[in-house]
Amino acid sequence: MTNSRIAAVDVGNDAVKANFGKLESSLYIPNVIARDMEDRPVIGIEDLDEKDPLDNLHIRVHSPALRENNAIYRVGNLAAKATNSTELDPGSYKSEEDQTLVMLFASLALDAVSGKDAKSSKNNVVEANYTLGTGLPLREVKEGKDVGYRSQLLGSVHQVEFLVTPQYQGMKVNLKFDEVKVYPEGFAAYVNLVMDNDLNIINKELIDKQILIQDIGGLSTDIAVIRNRNVDDDKAQGFNLGVSESLEAIRDEILTKHGVELDSRRDVVDIITRKNDRHHIMVKGSRTNVHDITDRILLELAKKQYRYLRNVWQKNSQSEICYFVGGGSAVLKDYMKTLNNKLDGFNIEFFEDENESIWMMANAYYKLISDFVRKNSKEEVKDNKKQEQKSGSSK
Ligand SMILES: Nc1ncnc2c1ncn2[C@@H]1O[C@H](COP(=O)(O)OP(=O)(O)OP(=O)(O)O)[C@@H](O)[C@H]1O
Ligand SMILES: [Mg+2]
Repeated sequence: MTNSRIAAVDVGNDAVKANFGKLESSLYIPNVIARDMEDRPVIGIEDLDEKDPLDNLHIRVHSPALRENNAIYRVGNLAAKATNSTELDPGSYKSEEDQTLVMLFASLALDAVSGKDAKSSKNNVVEANYTLGTGLPLREVKEGKDVGYRSQLLGSVHQVEFLVTPQYQGMKVNLKFDEVKVYPEGFAAYVNLVMDNDLNIINKELIDKQILIQDIGGLSTDIAVIRNRNVDDDKAQGFNLGVSESLEAIRDEILTKHGVELDSRRDVVDIITRKNDRHHIMVKGSRTNVHDITDRILLELAKKQYRYLRNVWQKNSQSEICYFVGGGSAVLKDYMKTLNNKLDGFNIEFFEDENESIWMMANAYYKLISDFVRKNSKEEVKDNKKQEQKSGSSK
């Protein structure tokens, strides 16, 4: 497994979060793609080299794992601007969508092409080997979808060709996987809570307790039940409701009521989570309060999320604590806490730092996959020693 680079990738419905190598680099790419019919689209290529590649991902992907092979895509921020962009549909299977693979390959290729080995590549082709840790929703792992997902990744070479992307135009990356581990999302969150980067237990209190983990994402919410240091598959629940819809609703209403068009959901997140001047926007130069709008829409969503919690807690009455993770938890934190104080008073916990919530899965996959690599290389050393001893004694 020499020269295999570690990649831990969380292909979230809202955004891909990825950690690489010795954690010296990471990527955050909105999960949006748009099909292009031509490899020379009418996107502004003027001053291309001054632009950020991350904002101009334009690629062709060759892979037998894809339903539509050799298709051309805009990815991430560039796709968000296109009119035909697609985001994942809440009811769909992550493991069966081309979009999941396109996002995964795009993030790996971007890592490979920006690394120092890429500069010494021949004919603009970068050979990149990865040891991948990634995940799927519990629902899909339960149905065994992880097996096929893993083997199609392992089974072939996947090529990403950069088209009209600054700095990397014309480069090709051949992606090969030396090993792929697919973890169930809820379990990964648990690992991240109780273990450090060397998988030492950092939270003795927690490790043998029955706990719940409610992951509020962009398009979905998953509640995992952890018991006996494992996810209890039968108890876990997934709901097709995340925070994106509400963020979009807030954006719409701000436009209708104040005539101000915010660029993205990210702007809405900023308005409701920032430290200073929260719930305010500028309207024609005047500072304007939008608390009525944000409060009503977020409270509505928080109530639904609280109902999910109640429902799962009722069925798992011996749970000791519920941790809230995912970007949605950062957004809903105050509302959920207020509801909980008024209502059931469950033992619930949020993360102070919203980045910790958002990067939970990617960080967990990183811990798990680097531990796997460490153990594997120890095995190799052991095997080599055995071999040496054998050949030594036969002399
Ligand atoms: N600091 C932040 N930075 C980026 N997004 C944030 C932040 N805080 C909250 N959000 C919002 O949280 C939502 C969910 O983000 P998250 O990354 O957890 O979703 P996801 O994992 O991609 O989706 P899912 O879990 O449904 O697959 C997004 O709509 C995002 O706009
Ligand atoms: Mg998520």
